[in-house]
Amino acid sequence: MSIRDVLDGKLTEKEVEIKGWLVNKRSSGGVQFLIIRDGTGTIQVTVHKDEVAQKAFQDTDRLTQESSIIVKGIAKEDKRAPDGYEVRVKGLRLVHLAEQEYPIGKKEHGVDFLLGYRQLWVRSPRQVAILKVRAEVIKACRDFLDENGFTLTDSPILTPAAVEGVATLFEVPYFGDKAFLAQSGQLYVEATIAAFGKVYCFGPTFRAEKSKTPRHLTEFWMVEPEMAFFTFEDNLKFQEDMVTYIVKKTLEKRSKELAVLKRNVKPLKKAEPPFDRISYTEAIQMLQKGRYKIEWGEDLGTPHERFISLKFEKPVFVHRYPAKAKAFYMQPDPENPEVALCADLMAPEGYGEIIGGSERIHDLKLLEQRIEEFGLPKKAYEWYLDLRRYGSVPHSGFGLGIERILMWICKLKHIRETIPFSRTMKRIYP
Ligand code: 4AD
Ligand code: MG
Repeated sequence: MSIRDVLDGKLTEKEVEIKGWLVNKRSSGGVQFLIIRDGTGTIQVTVHKDEVAQKAFQDTDRLTQESSIIVKGIAKEDKRAPDGYEVRVKGLRLVHLAEQEYPIGKKEHGVDFLLGYRQLWVRSPRQVAILKVRAEVIKACRDFLDENGFTLTDSPILTPAAVEGVATLFEVPYFGDKAFLAQSGQLYVEATIAAFGKVYCFGPTFRAEKSKTPRHLTEFWMVEPEMAFFTFEDNLKFQEDMVTYIVKKTLEKRSKELAVLKRNVKPLKKAEPPFDRISYTEAIQMLQKGRYKIEWGEDLGTPHERFISLKFEKPVFVHRYPAKAKAFYMQPDPENPEVALCADLMAPEGYGEIIGGSERIHDLKLLEQRIEEFGLPKKAYEWYLDLRRYGSVPHSGFGLGIERILMWICKLKHIRETIPFSRTMKRIYP
């Protein structure tokens, strides 16, 4: 039985056993008030001196923050208790007495300090709320895809070649040769579409990001749907539906957690199709009017995306970037081959890119030419070129960054809180 069951009122006046950790304690006369957490919730537990064995009362007296205990008692409705219920203890067993001075106990601490104690920090209510929302977002992604006829095809993590530019590759020794940690599973889901039609991969991806921005990790989780016969337009429509679903499900299932985070959910409720759209060229004009020194041809950086994203109330697609500023596999726009049939989806409220997607080149000759222009080693991509030799079809897909969408949904300042153990250029501990 769990604290949640007690708080739901299912066990009132029944004997319950709660196994958990001590969050807080105070005493008043012959009564000790404990706040206990078990992962499903927190509850007040009262220990009356004259109702428990002497040993149990002495143990209660010694309890330190984070000590683990098992209590038995009667679940009671009590208006004075923080959540309307409490457990009146009959017996208490101390499982482990935590050391004195919990390192991240009472005082206010900075994020850097807390990240050094991430193994303990994950227990705090705010972090628990964020990670609950994270689990919901991941479930929503999977449910949406599974319910829409997609097959999960996992992509490898050890790979022979780059997907998203050689500058951010992590190299790993591989039996006298070298391999790279996957930056994206895209090339592999492009292979499995010919077997399944609509597929996705979902897993950790790696980028040796040297930028120390509040929204870049070196290890992050990405869900990457890929669809045979999907045009660029089909791709955008599908993204709108998926993002809308994720936001709706999270609002529905995790409203308590969003309240813990003090998230104003009004802006999230606006995320309904159709999302706004602007071309890259229009984005550059907006930025230049906003006094940014940026020329047509440059990729957008964090401040640029922030500026654009603040101009819209809904997520906004920025489409048709210069082909040269983007990845080698993107289909050129037939109406202007200087730009690619690609779009980044920017979350509102200043968050910027949460999705990168495109139609892919399906013509063998053009793809070969791109690999050469980008100075990539053709040999490593021979298998990928085979996909254009045997049953090539127009196709599209995208990558949604879990930590990025979570940052926006929870309205966090820094991406480091969105993942249980973050990896950045400056931190690989704990
Ligand atoms: O725009 P990106 O680089 O696109 C790709 O990797 C494609 N191959 C995906 C595809 O079409 N299958 O990355 C996709 C998303 C970004 O929009 C962002 O949400 C996230 O991945 N992302 C990062 N998240 C955290 N830290 C980083 N360093 C990230 N780099 C990308
Ligand atoms: Mg991108």
